[in-house]
Amino acid sequence: MRRKLIAGNWKMNGLKEEGLKLAKAVAEKCRGNLSFDVLICPPMNLLGLIGNQEHTNVLLGAQDVAETTKTAGAFTGDVSAEMVKDLGAACAIVGHSERRTLHHETNAVVCQKAQNAIQAGLTAVICIGETEAERDNNQALEVVARQIKESVPTNATAENCVIAYEPVWAIGTGKTPTTNDVAQMHAAIRHELATLLGSQTADNMRILYGGSVKPTNAKELLAVENVDGALIGGASLKIDDFWGIASTQL
Ligand code: PGA
Repeated sequence: MRRKLIAGNWKMNGLKEEGLKLAKAVAEKCRGNLSFDVLICPPMNLLGLIGNQEHTNVLLGAQDVAETTKTAGAFTGDVSAEMVKDLGAACAIVGHSERRTLHHETNAVVCQKAQNAIQAGLTAVICIGETEAERDNNQALEVVARQIKESVPTNATAENCVIAYEPVWAIGTGKTPTTNDVAQMHAAIRHELATLLGSQTADNMRILYGGSVKPTNAKELLAVENVDGALIGGASLKIDDFWGIASTQL
């Protein structure tokens, strides 16, 4: 059985006071035994602060790691996967579409970052997804298949890797694919993963859906076959919205 994962991507949001408050509020909600995992990915300025708090049920993740295979050295502005792990993180998002677009990260770069995360003992949350133009041109399945082939390391396992399918046109827009489209894409992703990693690994690997997940659509999206959780941007910044989504899985 794949355990669902409810993940918050805070993006570049959060000064100390509000960030710590939000992390505490999430930890408070997640007290006790939950049947699903909760992950928050705050920006780097908060990672150490939140990682230093007393132990909670909430997993902590970074939004990126450095591309170099070196764990330290002359790489101004970069933070290595080893450093992220050292701050108390268990996961790292890699290949988010905002990084692929704004920082021109290719599949090869994303694959290297995923490898670095895995090497450091983190779970890599590898983001993939087509643009609106690609979907309109009926290229969505082909684009996503290529992203999997080229961005998922061949040593990925169900423990050290999670896939997040995030159609670029659904991120921050309020638009979501139909549940049929989500089902079709997630099945295709699992099929591609089986080709790359073998069917046992593919069957156990979690595939999240991301893009305008809200308390009002979470239940429906999370009930789709092969949807093993959600990667949540905007709605992860307000405890009521984030918990409104997570609590659909209680
Ligand atoms: P959104 O972002 O929930 O605000 O659409 C999702 C993401 O970018 O991970």
